[in-house]
Amino acid sequence: MTGLLVSAALAARANAFAPFSKFRVGAALEDAEGRIHTGCNVENATYGLTVCAERVAVYKAVSEGVRKFRRIAIAADTDTLTPPCGACRQILWEFCGDIEIVLANPRGKTEAYSLKDLFPKPFDVSYL
Ligand code: THU
Repeated sequence: MTGLLVSAALAARANAFAPFSKFRVGAALEDAEGRIHTGCNVENATYGLTVCAERVAVYKAVSEGVRKFRRIAIAADTDTLTPPCGACRQILWEFCGDIEIVLANPRGKTEAYSLKDLFPKPFDVSYL
């Protein structure tokens, strides 16, 4: 259910380590069995080593052996809902293909997209 996934993304956001940008993001990735894998952004004083919430969620799930996903919810406190960055779109495509992406904020606003809409011409293994 989308509500549960959004709630999980909002809860994960509370764990964001974002002392530099103060921009807190949470993600909740639902796998094919309905399990939820969460992530938050984890920043670093070098700035460049910061990892986004979406990639933390994907890598946590993949490292547990999960390979099939249905959708991801991404939560940040913006009125114009925050979409995944370009690097995260590439990683989502690699592991999740054309999944549903639900954007959310803490005031109950949500929007749904397919990854293909946000990332129309991905590079992937088919080119190798
Ligand atoms: N960030 C995410 O975690 N996900 C996004 O979709 C956009 C950006 C993080 C990275 C950084 O810690 C902070 O937000 C500001 O860019």
